[in-house]
Amino acid sequence: MSSKPQANSDAKLDAYWMPFTANRQFKQAPRLITGADGMYFTDDKGRQVLDGIAGLWCVNAGHNRPRIVEAIQKQAAELDFAPPFQMAHPKAFELAERLVELTPAGLNKAFFTNSGSEAVETALKMAIAYHRVRGEGARTRLIGRERGYHGVNFGGISVGGMVGNRKMFGTMLSGVDHIRHTHDPARNAFSQGQPAYGAEFANDLENLIALHDASTIAAVIVEPIAGSTGVLIPPQGYLQRLREICDKHAILLIFDEVITGFGRTGNPFAAQTFGVTPDLMTVAKGLTNGCVPMGAVFAKQFIHDAFMQGPEHLIEFFHGYTYSAHPLACAAALGTLDTYAEDGLLTRASEMQGYFAEALHSLKGEPNVIDIRNMGLVGGCELAPLPGEPGKRAFSIFLDCWEKGVLVRTTGDTIALSPPLIIEKQHIDHIIDTVRGALKRAA
Ligand SMILES: Cc1ncc(COP(=O)(O)O)c(C=O)c1O
Repeated sequence: MSSKPQANSDAKLDAYWMPFTANRQFKQAPRLITGADGMYFTDDKGRQVLDGIAGLWCVNAGHNRPRIVEAIQKQAAELDFAPPFQMAHPKAFELAERLVELTPAGLNKAFFTNSGSEAVETALKMAIAYHRVRGEGARTRLIGRERGYHGVNFGGISVGGMVGNRKMFGTMLSGVDHIRHTHDPARNAFSQGQPAYGAEFANDLENLIALHDASTIAAVIVEPIAGSTGVLIPPQGYLQRLREICDKHAILLIFDEVITGFGRTGNPFAAQTFGVTPDLMTVAKGLTNGCVPMGAVFAKQFIHDAFMQGPEHLIEFFHGYTYSAHPLACAAALGTLDTYAEDGLLTRASEMQGYFAEALHSLKGEPNVIDIRNMGLVGGCELAPLPGEPGKRAFSIFLDCWEKGVLVRTTGDTIALSPPLIIEKQHIDHIIDTVRGALKRAA
């Protein structure tokens, strides 16, 4: 485009190359957010927009929470930065201790990163290095899953299974293979909670072990619920089966809980909801309520301990980030944990999920709805794609909802909902009524 587009607020929009955005479409009709409080955003026209997706699956306690804001402000004035290599500050330890009280049993070591993508890279490297330090250096292969999303760095897109995120970027990591995804609408469409069919998809792992041999495989990584590819809930027994196969072959199991962590499914972590404990677990997003970038990897004691050998003055794990356990992020995370505890938010999704599920499934029968999936406060409503134009129908629903004052998210032709955990019934009604209206208008 020759002319530089302008927002209503007269902001210049040209220089910013936006991430994961249809830049040209956006700059013709910008959607600018200027404030937020509780369940609502304020846009640059002063409209209130109901947040149906917790920002981006991260603002679990709702926006602008006083404890978190104060914690960040106080920290900025007290200690702006402390080097994280060979040095530390007390809140990093305090946060790690608080977190491992919440994690599934045994995941009692916390390593800090700045994002979900970095947490994934860290977990993958930890897995490969773990096998090496215990003398099984041939275990370098990583297994991901089709339709998996594990962030955007090279390890994450290699084990990930979203073609759009992979096809532009060459050959990525070598030695990666994938099991099939579990989406099976022919058998499971409109299931509530965990679908009945599909535990056997986990047996793909046995096939890959037969192909590559377990002695070459370091780890398997999956999201307990695949969010970014359209809210795919694991079939009953599927995660248990993955765990059994990993145990049988001494392969590490990694759960990527970047979106399912911190209360999304009715427990602090989806591992607890599904009763399956991984060996490594990645988190981000809800860790700081989205306020300051931060991620983490939780590791079982035996993984950590395998590294603790050799001369004591030497670094055990050659990995870390300048901003690992940044003081502002630690303060935000501590304020977030306080807020979650005070408001009972880490289990609130289990109280609200019945109402949420009923409201969401009432969209069955609306134009072009071909499947609905839900768990805790996560929902997916899949639409029949427009012929030859995948993703376009759902995107038009997203735009319509925004115009009507509700923020939803779309991935492919699935409308994904993941509201803040403070949501009340009237907000659920408002979101679902708005989506329903948009579906009817688009028919
Ligand atoms: C499961 C999962 N892993 C990793 C990521 C990447 O997180 P980030 O965008 O913080 O790098 C995401 C982001 O949505 C995610 O959903």
